[in-house]
Amino acid sequence: MSTAPTAASATSRTKDVLEDLEQVLLAFMRKHRITHEQYRFATQFLVDTVKQGEESLLYDVFFEAESTDIGNRTRTGSPEAIEGPFYLAGAPELQEPYVMPMRDGERGDVLFFVGKVRDVEGKPLAGAELDLWHADADGLYSNIHPNIPLWNLRARFKTDSNGNFEVRTIVPPPYEIPKDGPTGQVLKTMGRHFFRPAHLHVKVRHSELAEMTSQIYFLGGQYLDNDVANAVRDGLVATLECHDDESDMKSRGLGRPYYTVEYEFVLAPAH
Ligand SMILES: [Fe+2]
Repeated sequence: MSTAPTAASATSRTKDVLEDLEQVLLAFMRKHRITHEQYRFATQFLVDTVKQGEESLLYDVFFEAESTDIGNRTRTGSPEAIEGPFYLAGAPELQEPYVMPMRDGERGDVLFFVGKVRDVEGKPLAGAELDLWHADADGLYSNIHPNIPLWNLRARFKTDSNGNFEVRTIVPPPYEIPKDGPTGQVLKTMGRHFFRPAHLHVKVRHSELAEMTSQIYFLGGQYLDNDVANAVRDGLVATLECHDDESDMKSRGLGRPYYTVEYEFVLAPAH
């Protein structure tokens, strides 16, 4: 017998969730004796958050990691991580050798992100697509922050016939999320800082398997233990290795030290 959710069961679940949410919020209002004035302040705050385009940022900072945790409890592939509010679909596809789109003289240490994509049985996946995006050396994202070319440090590329990939980019730094809007106001009121640890964002796709969204953090990096989005998890932290040996640098055609980080993505079966 099929266990796939039917339209009726999905509707019933939505009804259950909405009724529970209503009860939780009503209990919260009673507990904190929310007055009409405070209620109006809160609803206007949410309106202002939307007007300033921060609704995704506000919710993602506080709640997105919980949803990925819930999904990870039953996942068979490598762990997923939050997408965050800065993803853009349709990034350019790279041709080999893969180098992320960047400005002339893009600042930041050179990073080679290398790894493999496989299925849960261990079979390497040729032609899997990686969709990578991350911050520049100032901690800023293209198309989110002004004066950065649209697809800067955003691109898609594929694994080779052995399921391996390598792309050249720069090492992103920890960054502060936007702090001058409603999200910053909430965090400030709660006495929190605004930093996320350095990370790479990536989505991995394969035609026969479930798409996954991940983030790779760097072992020993700042803010791993107190990420403002509380999104760092075991299994997402990889070693950032510095290569400062002359012959190493020469073999890469570089006159300065560079870094590598390696990660293996395991795609779960499609739902
Ligand atoms: Fe990010």
